Amino acid sequence: MAPSTPIALTAERYPIAQLQCETDTGIATIPLSQEVAFGSWQPDIPAEYMDLGSEELTARIHAARETLGDRVVILGHHYQREDIIAFADERGDSFQLAQYAANRGESEYIVFCGVHFMAEAADILRADHQQVILPNIAAGCSMADMASEPDVHRAWAELKEFYGSTDDIIPVTYMNSAASLKAFCGANGGLVCTSSNATKVLDWAFERGKRVFFFPDQHLGRNTGHAMGIPLEQMVLWNWRGPSGNLGGATPEALERARLILWQGHCSVHQRFTVQQIEQARAANPDVKIVVHPECRYDVVQAADANGSTGYIVKYIEDAPAGSVIGVGTEINLVSRLAKEHPDKTIFCLDPVVCPCSTMYRVHPAYLAWVMEALVDGRVVNRIEVPEHHRRDAKVALERMLALK
Ligand code: 13P
Ligand code: SF4
Repeated sequence: MAPSTPIALTAERYPIAQLQCETDTGIATIPLSQEVAFGSWQPDIPAEYMDLGSEELTARIHAARETLGDRVVILGHHYQREDIIAFADERGDSFQLAQYAANRGESEYIVFCGVHFMAEAADILRADHQQVILPNIAAGCSMADMASEPDVHRAWAELKEFYGSTDDIIPVTYMNSAASLKAFCGANGGLVCTSSNATKVLDWAFERGKRVFFFPDQHLGRNTGHAMGIPLEQMVLWNWRGPSGNLGGATPEALERARLILWQGHCSVHQRFTVQQIEQARAANPDVKIVVHPECRYDVVQAADANGSTGYIVKYIEDAPAGSVIGVGTEINLVSRLAKEHPDKTIFCLDPVVCPCSTMYRVHPAYLAWVMEALVDGRVVNRIEVPEHHRRDAKVALERMLALK
């Protein structure tokens, strides 16, 4: 077979590829019809939205929101693009937005500008009179997709067989997971964590069990465990892609030693950050501070000055003195916004090439305009409804997390 010619990621072929992680360029909205990546987005949006530019969409969203008033609240995760975050009544990290949903404002509709697992969590925590809407149903999370219900059940069964019982194992799922896995944790004495409370959650878990089964993000698990003093030799990686019955590729000795069993999942955005990028930043400016998200690899987190959730990164930069130079290891929409909001500081992204979260980016303003105008017409489109058989146990797991002080 002739070797295939690599496809150049030109701006015409794939507009997102032209977006270097330069914090001053921003990520401008182009009409949906020109987004080449649209092929993998929710396609059944009415044609009338396809060619609208940023200004017209913004005006239409404004008008819909005026009409709807307090009946709708818009939540925006920090990684949303500018044209979306401008409409957010509340912006935050995944924990802050879940807390908001749990506090149950009066609004009938919660329009969640984020990704699917976040909207599911809001639906589990909402009040009975509320409905949650995700503007683009195809806005998922590739890390969450790395842990499926059957794979987790299979692993749990293998762990039970190996240890003789799972009574001493507490399952902990990162917020970035399907509602069915939150339900699994709720039903098995476990709970949910986010990047802003993982230490508290693991403390809670180790008060109740000898080992923690942590999924889907190996890096958050490893970084948190290490910060709590668990040696790396007491952590084992569970390769869910391996054949059934092979104990996730771990040796019996490693499993006997293990206190943390880490699912082999990762975030493709955060795995791009490297120690070399940090070394380059330090060589260019010895006074630079480096802050990264704990979804980055262990060696990257070790080489950084600080790490934490998106909410933590926002605060770290807010609190830094004027004149600070800060290299950031997280998604570019947030880094770019922070650079604009803090002109007295130099804020830059550590990764010199493309690093938007492509699924967060799927919440294009055309989708927000569509779901908002539908509400004005009395129709709910893209409602997120967690099935009742998952809701009860998933709520237990989320409420255990929210109750931690
Ligand atoms: P935060 O909870 O820190 O906002 O993280 C969510 C996320 O998906 C990071 O990739
Ligand atoms: Fe998922 Fe990574 Fe995007 Fe966060 S940045 S939503 S973990 S793919």
